[in-house]
Amino acid sequence: MSRLPNDATLRAILELARRAPSVHNTQPWAWVVRDTMLLLRSDPHRKLVHADPNERDLVMSCGAALHELVVAAAGMGWECTVHRIPEGGRTDLLAVVTFAPREPEVADLGMLAAIEQRFTDRRQVSSWPVPRQRLDHLSHLVLDYGVVATVIPDHLRPIVVAALETSRAHQATDEAYLAELYSWTRGGRDEGIPESSLLDADSDPASYTRFPRGTLADGDDDAGSPAEEWLVLATASDDPVSWLRAGEALDAMWLSCTTSGLALVPYTQPIEVGSTRRTLQHELLGDNSCPQVLVRIGWPQRYHAPMPPTPRRALDDMLQHESAASS
Ligand SMILES: Cc1cc2nc3c(=O)[nH]c(=O)nc-3n(C[C@H](O)[C@H](O)[C@H](O)COP(=O)(O)O)c2cc1C
Repeated sequence: MSRLPNDATLRAILELARRAPSVHNTQPWAWVVRDTMLLLRSDPHRKLVHADPNERDLVMSCGAALHELVVAAAGMGWECTVHRIPEGGRTDLLAVVTFAPREPEVADLGMLAAIEQRFTDRRQVSSWPVPRQRLDHLSHLVLDYGVVATVIPDHLRPIVVAALETSRAHQATDEAYLAELYSWTRGGRDEGIPESSLLDADSDPASYTRFPRGTLADGDDDAGSPAEEWLVLATASDDPVSWLRAGEALDAMWLSCTTSGLALVPYTQPIEVGSTRRTLQHELLGDNSCPQVLVRIGWPQRYHAPMPPTPRRALDDMLQHESAASS
């Protein structure tokens, strides 16, 4: 029989889920308590109209929040059952979650701790190679969400770099896109990406960075070349359920990386632009699967200072109560 955790526990779970990653830190979700259920809705006011007109990034971000909710609940002794997009493809109601008590396992506690330790670290990774076994483990993990993660071999890396550069150049010609980007990187009180999370001009020679320069210094102490790995996460179809699952899978991979000390950065710009999305599909995947996000994985450099946390909206801004009769 499902029932909601008590108020204090539910709030503690939702406080943690607020830490989920989201595109430009838009946090485009709302939680609704309805009887014994918790609903996840998208918040259309937080949509990136120019970067993400189809809402792929928005729904993926909500998927990441959904995954952090499930992880936080498991760590606090509650098992979630999730019904995804229950109303025939409407993307405003993304999931209905019910809860049942369940004793947490040690691994649940490790994942719960990772929620507060995860952040986007865009600095150069170290020259230590990521073991193949580790990459295989990450690829295996996302299969649970119907997502296939392909490790990009060295000889295909130039395709990734070209897609990043081309999509950046494409979007840089769109004034409305740029205005939107700048509005989310001005350092909001409870949303957006602060300068302290974005690399400064000296540290960021990459021609594919989508953000304006910030104040984060790389402090590159590693003499070797960065041993970064690139993966592409893809789904069988390209619809809101796939985007939601891709967001859950991205967060599952990210928290798992966090527990073992690996840094992960997602790149969605080449997926937002149709021509580069098709290039990735045809030249990297070579089949009909649908790329949803590129990720860069590597070991952080030993002497890098911890990343400052990015801000989050207050829980009461994203939590509503509703009776079944009012819906
Ligand atoms: C769907 C999605 C798309 C993202 N796209 C990018 C991206 O293209 N480039 C990037 O550097 N970070 C990207 N991010 C990371 C966000 O900018 C980051 O999660 C957000 O600013 C919050 O910061 P935090 O991860 O440090 O908590 C993305 C995250 C999500 C969930």
